[in-house]
Amino acid sequence: MRTTSMHALKRVASARVAAAAAAPRSLPATAASPALFHTSRAAAVRVLALDDVDELCVKIFKERGHTVDVMKTMPEAELVKIIGDYEGLVVRSGTKVNANVLQHATKLRLVGRAGVGVDNISVADATKAGVLVMNTPGGNTISTAQLAVSLLANLARQLPAADMSIKAGKWDRKSFMGVELSGKTLGVVGCGRIGQVVAGIAQTMGMHVIGYDPVMTSEQLRDVGIERGDLDDIWAKCDFITVHTPLTPETANLVSDATIEKCKPGVRIINCARGGIVDEAALLRGLESGKVRVYAPAHPQAAPYLTTLLFCDGRWPARRWTCSRRSPRRTT
Ligand SMILES: NC(=O)c1ccc[n+]([C@@H]2O[C@H](COP(=O)([O-])OP(=O)(O)OC[C@H]3O[C@@H](n4cnc5c(N)ncnc54)[C@H](O)[C@@H]3O)[C@@H](O)[C@H]2O)c1
Repeated sequence: MRTTSMHALKRVASARVAAAAAAPRSLPATAASPALFHTSRAAAVRVLALDDVDELCVKIFKERGHTVDVMKTMPEAELVKIIGDYEGLVVRSGTKVNANVLQHATKLRLVGRAGVGVDNISVADATKAGVLVMNTPGGNTISTAQLAVSLLANLARQLPAADMSIKAGKWDRKSFMGVELSGKTLGVVGCGRIGQVVAGIAQTMGMHVIGYDPVMTSEQLRDVGIERGDLDDIWAKCDFITVHTPLTPETANLVSDATIEKCKPGVRIINCARGGIVDEAALLRGLESGKVRVYAPAHPQAAPYLTTLLFCDGRWPARRWTCSRRSPRRTT
C-alpha cells in the first residue's frame, strides 16, 4: 500500500515539475499588453537595465531595436539623476523603484522585474503614474524549489556543519547523525508555484506535507498531495518549515519570537523566499535556545551573518562566527 502510494506521489511530482518547467516564462503583472513595446520599431525606446540582469534580456531588447544601457545597481540618489532619460527600466531585486524614483521617471512607461517578487517596486505608485509593471513568474520556479529541497536535505544531515568540522580536523561522526526526511512533516507556508514543487518532491522522499495558503482551496491543495492546515498547525505539527510567500505586510516577520515559541523543539526552518519573512534576530534567539535546530536562508537580511546563519545550529552559534563569502571564521 505504501509502495503504491509512493509511486503515485512520484508520478504527481514529476508531472508537476514538468508542468512548471513548461509554464510561460513571462506574464504581465498588470493587464496591459506589452506587445507594442517589444515589437514595433516605431516604438523603439531607451531601456535602463540594472542589477546585473541576464545578457539574454539585453539581447532581446536590442534585437527589437531598443537602445539598452546596462549598469550596476546604483544608489537611489544616482538613479534619480538619470531615470528621466528612459522609457523602460529592467531590475532584479537590488533596485528599489519607489515613489521618489518614479517621480523622476518622467518618460518611463514600463518597469520589468526579472524575477517573481515585485516587493522592490511600488506598484501602486507606478500604476498612478501610468507605468506598467511586469514580472517573470515561473522563470525560476524549478531552480528555487530545487534550492529549497537541497537545503531541506542538508538541514536533515547537517552537511555544512559536518563539512566545517572535518575541515577543522575532526572526525565527529556521532554529532552528525542527522535525521531521515521520510516520516517527517514538512510545513509549506505559501503553496503557489514554488511551494507546490517543493511539496511534490518532499512527498517523493516520504514526507507528509501540511500547507498554509490563504488563497488556495482545500481541494487545490489536496490535488497536489498537500494537507491544508492553518498557521498554528504549521508551527505546532511540523519538523521542517519552508516559506514560499511574497514579502507583504502580512508575511513580514511571520517567523518571529511568538511563532517560534509555538514550534516543535528542534524545528528546522528554510527560507528561500525573502529575508524579511523571518525575523532573524528572533531566529538567532531560537537557535541559541535550541528551539530551532537549524536555519537555512537564501536571502539573509543581516549582512554580518551572511554565511554563518546558513545552516547554523545550536552547537555552532551564529554570533561566534564572522563571515566572508569565502570562509566563515570563528572569533570567540
Ligand atoms: N530565492 C529566490 O531566488 C526566489 C526566486 C523566486 C521567487 N522567490 C520568492 O518566492 C515567492 C514565491 O514564489 P512563487 O513563484 O511560488 O509565487 P506564487 O505567487 O506562485 O506563490 C506565492 C503563494 O503565496 C501565497 N501567499 C500570499 N500571502 C500569503 C500569506 N500571508 N500566507 C501564506 N501564503 C501566502 C499566495 O496565495 C501564493 O499561492 C516569491 O514571492 C518571491 O518572493 C524567491
